[in-house]
Parts: sequence; structure tokens; C-alpha cells
Amino acid sequence: MPAKYRWWQSGIVYQVYPRSFQDSNRDGIGDLKGIAARLDYLVELGVDAVWVSPIFPSPMADFGYDVADYAGIDPMFGTLSDFDALVAAAHARGLKIILDFVPNHTSDQHPWFVESRSSRTNAKRDWYIWRDAKTGGVPNNWVSEFGGSAWTWDAATQQYYYHAFLKAQPDLNWRNPDVRAAMLAVLRFWLDRGVDGFRVDAIHHLIEAEHLNDNPPNPDWREGQSPARRLARVYSLDQAETHDCIAEMRALADTYENRVLIGEASLPIEQLMAYYGKEAPGFHLPFNFHLIKSSWDPQVIAALIEQYEGALAGGAERWPNWVLGNHDRSRVASRIGPAQARVAAMLLLTLRGTPTIYQGEEIGMADVPIPTQCLRDPWEKNVPGLGLGRDPERTPMQWDASGNAGFTGGDPWLPLSSDYRAVNVEAQRTDDRSMLSLYRALIALRRREPALSVGVHVKAEAIGSVLTYRRFHAGRWVTVALNFADEPQMFSKPVDQDAILISTHLDRVEPERGNAVRLRPNEGIVLAAA
Ligand code: GLC
Ligand code: CA
Repeated sequence: MPAKYRWWQSGIVYQVYPRSFQDSNRDGIGDLKGIAARLDYLVELGVDAVWVSPIFPSPMADFGYDVADYAGIDPMFGTLSDFDALVAAAHARGLKIILDFVPNHTSDQHPWFVESRSSRTNAKRDWYIWRDAKTGGVPNNWVSEFGGSAWTWDAATQQYYYHAFLKAQPDLNWRNPDVRAAMLAVLRFWLDRGVDGFRVDAIHHLIEAEHLNDNPPNPDWREGQSPARRLARVYSLDQAETHDCIAEMRALADTYENRVLIGEASLPIEQLMAYYGKEAPGFHLPFNFHLIKSSWDPQVIAALIEQYEGALAGGAERWPNWVLGNHDRSRVASRIGPAQARVAAMLLLTLRGTPTIYQGEEIGMADVPIPTQCLRDPWEKNVPGLGLGRDPERTPMQWDASGNAGFTGGDPWLPLSSDYRAVNVEAQRTDDRSMLSLYRALIALRRREPALSVGVHVKAEAIGSVLTYRRFHAGRWVTVALNFADEPQMFSKPVDQDAILISTHLDRVEPERGNAVRLRPNEGIVLAAA
């Protein structure tokens, strides 16, 4: 790899949702020892960094995104020494460990909030966002992401507190300098323990407009969509002061060597750009979720890639990144179907920018229908029936065909997919055309070809059903052609690009001479000079 690139630029991130990755103590919930036991699998897959969703002490109202102690490990997941052992084992294998930092809110069980709510004069009162009732009740019309008012009444102290998510997740007041100092100390705690970076949760929620005015209605909202979207969240999301807080996080991370900050902000591309930093550096990688949100159409995706590349070009030091899924979104294999999921894998791993793979994507895991009695996600419970629940994409990793797919010897916290006896790591490992083999081959190719990992991007366009673009590095061109249709397509290829480096079908080796190549249904190929 050309040395001037950082590991988080040339590398690939793999997201572990720890509850569902690997259980080691038969309680039906994945844990740190389980992750450690599967590190060799991740090495074999070829990824560079593991982002672990929250593992801190938590009442689990939002499955760890409600943190009750930022400097510990929930006993369900293990101990601090298990964590240190995991970091050491990962580093010994050349893998980085990225933690999930949840700065917007704590758990309502966090000692800070317990103190804050104890009286109006408590020293930590101002660590959260407390307001008097207005005539008629709540301070404003803001709606929680998970449904209902974003304000909860505290009878003891006769005020409301603000929570962008559950009432068990009160928002911290980042305008208070003591809060900032305490939260930066949290980052320092883990950086000193050797973590390689953070994925920073819900960052666009960090600060609210000081006046807390009502948000205006969102004219684009439709019945059936999330109730929180009913309002245009102009005063509760993406406030300018957020960037000062991010700059402080970044300045701290930069006092350590080689650390990365990845920001989670689900925003349109233009707004997202600000999260790379304005006056001062911000995130290395503000997550780009647009492949998840866009319709799976070659014209739309080509336009998206060009829009993103164009926006990035507006500022130096903006490194791109792409994701197909995560623990909050319907799985890609369910959204676009298993045949196109292979095309999507090729897209993810040949675009310019750091890819993040969500656990299970690499074996083509699909959403799992959850029977009502097994529902766990509070979002589905609060706002039922709209398909907002996130349990379907959080089901246990499918390792093998044994009981509970090798995930647990106990009762899994969420049901397993009914297809796990066929769709699992063990079965796919020995099948040289499986999804897992495709991921491994694409990752290996990306590693071999600097044009793919760090090369420039040249023009995405859709020609009929084929999405194509080229990558270039140090005199070498690579061409990508992805057939979005389930019928054959002719692709006019550059005459000099004869070698098929890979097909999504994993069966082509013969060079294609001439100026056209026939793509089979749902086939993607990567071409280069022979
Ligand atoms: C982020 C997380 C999501 C969580 C929310 C609140 O969006 O990805 O899982 O529920 O923040 O912390
Ligand atoms: Ca366990």
C-alpha cells in the first residue's frame, strides 16, 4: 500500500454488534470473549479494523446506547481485563479496535443524571437539559426519535428534561464546559487503553438551538413514516456549535498516534461535508449512509457517487466512505435481494473510500422476521407496525449448521434466521462461489490493487442497466461494470482492459478481447489491462 495513506483510508472496517456476534458463556448474548474467539475469522476475511457497538455498563433500554458508566464494561459483555485482552489479541493480529462513543445522551441510571435530577440546585443540574413547563405542558413540540414527546416530566423537581431518543436516554448539555471536559476524559480513558478510534454516535443531535423554539412541520412527511420526521428538525439537529465540540474531540485524538474518529450523522451530502471540519478538523470519516437510503437504480447510484465525489472535492482532506448496512437498517440482502447483494458487495469494495461491512453482510444474511413475543427493540415497541423496528437486522451471526448456528449454547436473545443451516460461515468457507468467498476475493483484490483502495475515482455513469466507473493509481487503470438488471447486458469496455480481475459469479478467468463484454444477469466485473 502506498505509505502516504493512513490505515483508515486504505483499510476496511467491520462492524460487530456484540450482543449478536458470539456468545461464550451460554447466556444467549454475545460478549468480548466471543469476539476474541472470532478474530481469526476477521483476519481470514481480510478486514483491518473492528468497530464494536457499545459494551459499557447499561440498563440496555436501547441495547447499550444508554450508557450508565463510560469507563467500564457491562458484566454481560465481560470485564475490563477481557477488553484489554481483546485489544491485545486484535493488535497481535494487525487488527484495530474502534469503540462506540455515545456523547449525546447517557442512561437515566448514569450517576450524573441521578444527581442532576436529585434537585434543581444540584451541581450537575445543568449537565442535562431541564426546562419549566409551558402553559399546556411540554416546553416545545419536539418529538423523540423513538416516538412520543422528546420531553419527560420529573415530578420531584417539577421540570421537564429533554431526550432526543428514549426517556431513559436524557440528552447531555454540551454547552456546559464541565460536560465537555468529562466527556473528553472518557475518550482519553479509552485512548490510553490503546483503542484505535471511535465511532461517534448520533452526533448531529449533540446540541440544540438555545431558544428551543418549536420545529416547523415537515411538508415531505407521509403517514407511515417515523413520527419524529413529522417536523423539520431545524432547531434540534445539526446545529453549528456541534462542530466546536467535534473539533475538541479531534484535537484530543490527534494528540495520540494513528487514531480515527468516525461520525454518525444521517444527513444530506451537503450538510455532511461540514462534519469533516470547518475552521478546525472534525471527523476523519463522517459516515456516508446514502447507499442505504438511495433506491437501487444505476442512474440514481451514479448520480449519488458523482454528487458525493463533487462535494468532497470542495475541501482538502476529505476522505470518502461507504456503507451498505448497520444495526439500525434493514439488511442489504433484504432490501435489494440476494443476487443484487453480490453486485452491492462489488460496489462497496471498489468505490473510492473506506468501506464498512456490517456483520453478516459477508455471508448474505437477510432480515429475520421477529414474532411479536420476541420483539426487543424499543422503537418497534413505541411505534409498532411501521417497520421501524431494528431487531430483524440484529439477529445472531450464523457461524455454522449446529444448534443456534454456533452463536450460543444457551437461548439466543433474538431468534436465529430459519435459513442458518444453509447460510453460515462454515458452509460458505468451503464453497468457492459463496458470498463469503466473494467478499474475501473482493477484499483481497482491493488490497492488491492500490487503484481500488486509494486510487482516484473517475466518473460514475449508468449506461442502460450497467453502472460503471474507473479507478486509477500510478499508471494503472481499473474499470468496474455492474449489471443491476436480471437480464444480460452488453458493456462497451475500454479496448485495453482485457483482464477480468473478478466477476461477482466468481467463475470467469478468460480475458475478454475487443471493445465489448457481455455481462450476465446480476453480474459485476472488474477489468484491467492484462
Ligand atoms: C444511533 C445508534 C442507534 C441508537 C441511537 C441512539 O443512531 O446507531 O442504534 O439507538 O443512536 O443512541
Ligand atoms: Ca454471553
